[in-house]
Amino acid sequence: MPIRTVASQPFPDQKPGTSGLRKKVKVFQKPHYLENFVQSIFDTIAAPQGATLVVGGDGRFYNRTAIQTILKMAAANGFGKVLVGQGGILSTPAASNIIRKYQTYGGIILSASHNPGGPDGDFGIKYNGNNGGPATETVTEAIFARSKVLAEYRILDAADVPLDSTGSTRLGALQVEVIDAVADYAGLMESLFDFGAIRSLLQGGFRIQFDAMHAVTGPYAREIFVNRLGAPAASVMNAVPLEDFGNGHPDPNLTYAHDLVEIMFGQNAPDFGAASDGDGDRNMILGQRFFVTPSDSLAVIAANATLAPGYRKGLAGIARSMPTSAAADRVARALNIPCFETPTGWKFFGNLMDAGKVTLCGEESFGTGSDHVREKDGLWAVLFWLNILAARKQPVETIVREHWAQYGRNFYSRYDYEAIPSDAANGVMQHLRGNFAALTGKSFGHYTVQTCDDFSYTDPVDGSVSTNQGIRILFSDGSRIIFRLSGTGTEGATLRVYLEAFEADVARHHLDAQEALQSLIQIALNISELQTRTGREQPTVIT
Ligand code: G1P
Ligand code: ZN
Repeated sequence: MPIRTVASQPFPDQKPGTSGLRKKVKVFQKPHYLENFVQSIFDTIAAPQGATLVVGGDGRFYNRTAIQTILKMAAANGFGKVLVGQGGILSTPAASNIIRKYQTYGGIILSASHNPGGPDGDFGIKYNGNNGGPATETVTEAIFARSKVLAEYRILDAADVPLDSTGSTRLGALQVEVIDAVADYAGLMESLFDFGAIRSLLQGGFRIQFDAMHAVTGPYAREIFVNRLGAPAASVMNAVPLEDFGNGHPDPNLTYAHDLVEIMFGQNAPDFGAASDGDGDRNMILGQRFFVTPSDSLAVIAANATLAPGYRKGLAGIARSMPTSAAADRVARALNIPCFETPTGWKFFGNLMDAGKVTLCGEESFGTGSDHVREKDGLWAVLFWLNILAARKQPVETIVREHWAQYGRNFYSRYDYEAIPSDAANGVMQHLRGNFAALTGKSFGHYTVQTCDDFSYTDPVDGSVSTNQGIRILFSDGSRIIFRLSGTGTEGATLRVYLEAFEADVARHHLDAQEALQSLIQIALNISELQTRTGREQPTVIT
């Protein structure tokens, strides 16, 4: 089979964002677009001849086409073996596990996470290194730099490879091995959590409902909850992965996981509900008529970690992204372990985990995980909760309320203004930056601004510095307002406003978060001139 060298032109827009390169499917379908980026990855990582690569995606539209291209390019670029998930499918955490378990030269993950799919939806691609985690900023910058000058790529002229059953095929000198996408991952989960205790909990009548949102976790959830833990088949809903996610928005939050929310807030609600996103790395946790914020979830998991066999020895440390609430910091302080504050995006946790500095990580954006892989992990979080519930034998709500009573409550909410003109979004950020001095020391009723800054982070392991990671308005009582531009949107700009207020007084813990945060929201709108500058009265989504 001949290797072809194809002349191409650079694409100046191939800059990877928070989690890889994300664009509309239509953009990826442009001639040479995907190929150009894949060749840039291969040129940058410079794998030794004969190296092994992992390839898999969340099953969205264009996944199969992209995988065939990547396989033929891997064959033409000297790889010896590619491990592909059956049907081209691998959840992001499962891919991370396979890279680590089989010690491959990293992997390519195809996903636009929680963004809608289908021909008019989004697609994405990223490279994860041999630790199983997203490439560091240094590597993604190098890939971007390469993509800007690349003039040709190499591809094998060959027929498509069958991906639907497990087994081995040859593609020129390359061995393509289609592997069971679920087995290794399910085994890993069984090694971390007390499946026996969870099985007994379920046998005792404890009812769970998991929403796979027609995305990648369906087959994983069936194997784990139904086959291995004995839950009824109906406890996994929307379990068949679809290329367009059944026309849904596979983002596990109160807005988009509405099927599940209706069940969990309805009559005769199950005891526990959860959902995961397009590629299986996010999670939402619900009790009976009760929502657990991702920031609280991280803190509760941290406080109860030793109840799970895989964490019996305790935690080395915790890391959270800067906009995530400080609830986990309070647990870290009580446990006398370090807590790290990183920029948004999972890639910043990798170095800390590799260096053994942290065990648990979390983000407010429905991402929780640990050093068992180098990605956030939706089903892992669900199983951690089930393990805690099996051990404590209390309802979800009681566990969270007892947590607040002990540590205080961090009221939290995020307002997203999606698809606004980039100029307007940048204008809001510039306006705020210009006012740091004027805001410092200023009082707004009960709230006094202590400091304002542009968050920057120095990696404690490799010393690399990341600047402009979000504007922080910090108040003297520990409350915070954060403004940040999204790095994953594919249309215009998305402006995120994060609000957090700490409340020690148990008598006020029953308040609704929106109620408790009302004055902070007003202050945020006021100081940012957001409404006039963007023309948006209301946010697109509140979580
Ligand atoms: C969003 C989330 C961020 C998460 C990322 C990938 O990024 O806010 O926490 O790591 O998706 O799932 P953003 O669009 O804010 O850049
Ligand atoms: Zn995701």
